[in-house]
Amino acid sequence: MIAIYPGSFDPITLGHLDIIERGCKLFEKVIVTVLRNPAKNPLFPVAKRVEQICECTAHLSNVEVDSFTGLTVEYAKLRKAGVLLRGLRVLSDFEKELQMAHTNKTLWDGVETVFLATANEYSFLSSSMVKEIARFGGSVEHLVPPNVAQEIYLFYKKGDR
Ligand code: PNS
Repeated sequence: MIAIYPGSFDPITLGHLDIIERGCKLFEKVIVTVLRNPAKNPLFPVAKRVEQICECTAHLSNVEVDSFTGLTVEYAKLRKAGVLLRGLRVLSDFEKELQMAHTNKTLWDGVETVFLATANEYSFLSSSMVKEIARFGGSVEHLVPPNVAQEIYLFYKKGDR
């Protein structure tokens, strides 16, 4: 079975990477898909996020990285994927995640959302928290893959934002 792991990944965190690694053991293939969200003002462009994910998942043989504009279920149909993989961190994630899972089911009945509990050590971690820490000069090496940490530091050093 093919699983899609959709998200913004702006940027990918160690929590995301943990879900990908565990998903790879459960599914024949995991397609990590960067979804373009016109409502969000991203730190990294989609192509850069794809590149970052490719680099930090290079050790996994059954991972593919892609991007898509549109509905997640349309992408799942296109790729003949039967599963949408999502990580659940804390209780506050649950409401939004359940709403998305049910909405996706109404859009296409051919896909099931499978939740993995985020590893305990990353249950507090979010991409927005990473950006906030880095923006104020804090260290993020313990929160994101090394290639991503370097690029975040570079970004804020240049004073782009
Ligand atoms: O990493 P995120 O921001 O929590 O991911 C949210 C994402 C990208 C999975 C969600 O916003 C999404 O599926 N966007 C694509 C548009 C879509 O399919 N919307 C209907 C599902 S509720």
